[in-house]
Amino acid sequence: MTPYTGLIDRYRRRLPISDAVRIISLCEGNTPLIRLQNIPEVIERDVKVYVKYEGLNPTGSFKDRGMTVAVTKAVEEGSRAVICASTGNTSASAAAYAARAGIAAFVLIPEGKIALGKLAQAMMAGAVVLQIRGNFDAGMRLVKEVAARAPVTIVNSINPYRLQGQKTAAFEIIEALGRAPDFHCIPVGNAGNITAHWMGYQEYARDGVAKTLPRMCGYQASGAAPFLRGHAVDDPETVATAIRIGHPQSWDQAWQVNKESQGWFDELSDEEILASQKLLAEREGIFCEPASAASVGGALRDLASAKIPAGSVVVCTLTGHGLKDPDIAIRQSSARRVNVDATLAAVERAIMDNMT
Ligand code: F0G
Repeated sequence: MTPYTGLIDRYRRRLPISDAVRIISLCEGNTPLIRLQNIPEVIERDVKVYVKYEGLNPTGSFKDRGMTVAVTKAVEEGSRAVICASTGNTSASAAAYAARAGIAAFVLIPEGKIALGKLAQAMMAGAVVLQIRGNFDAGMRLVKEVAARAPVTIVNSINPYRLQGQKTAAFEIIEALGRAPDFHCIPVGNAGNITAHWMGYQEYARDGVAKTLPRMCGYQASGAAPFLRGHAVDDPETVATAIRIGHPQSWDQAWQVNKESQGWFDELSDEEILASQKLLAEREGIFCEPASAASVGGALRDLASAKIPAGSVVVCTLTGHGLKDPDIAIRQSSARRVNVDATLAAVERAIMDNMT
């Protein structure tokens, strides 16, 4: 068996990458599609719900799919530096792939508003971290302005190579299921990923690999829900900092996905998002970051109301790993932490006292 070497090698003929090019890869992609089997809302109904665990990519998020293509192309085109604005995951991914390529990375992040794990990743990979006194949307504006003047390649999802890489998640889902799902539930921030998935589903449908297309269901945090409001939001706020975005760059594309796939957008409160994150960890042992849980929270609600009907096959994207944001996890966990003396008697007593 030949070892897996990353998604560019796997899907090269479906990507804008020629044969002679030096590939910048960390073996991203090929993530597991896990069927949920314990969550009561799921087992009580005749539905198959799967999670696509994108947190198992090399830097712990789906961004790596896009970054391998974007950085490979940047290097091919002779770029010596990449730049992005980020709520955290893009910066972690850009920093890692730039390190792999041997080029510089500049990342603009909202000061104090990204999960600590993501900051650690960008710093460890040697990126220049510019903490701005402003949110992601301000950072995005600045990145566009500065890239027009300085020799840096933007690796946000406005870089079309990013979406090319990210569409491969849809390919993997179809290959794993042997068909397209009926519904694909996905968190929406900048709206690049929902757009990329739809590109992938359409490509496989067009080429006859799948016979059907899913309806694309995009979920936002209530405090950062421009697609629900119908217009940009100037001061987005949510505990799910990854999707704390008010001016999505792929606004028109996401509305087109919504229309073409006959899907919908919906919103979840911060409490609902955190409850879904916890439910997934406690019932299924799957740890995702808060933003990711919006997909499962939305799907479960739509299953309960039969908006997603019985008999459906549903895929929820878990965009990032739970370890990215340990602070929030520890704060909301209800697990017991028991301090005991380091003696057999004390440990045994603690076990007997806490047996459920
Ligand atoms: N989930 C996570 C964990 C994310 O990091 C992001 C986006 C999304 C969902 C939303 O995806 O933007 O394609 O709609 N994070 C970007 C970043 C903005 O900078 O890391 P989207």
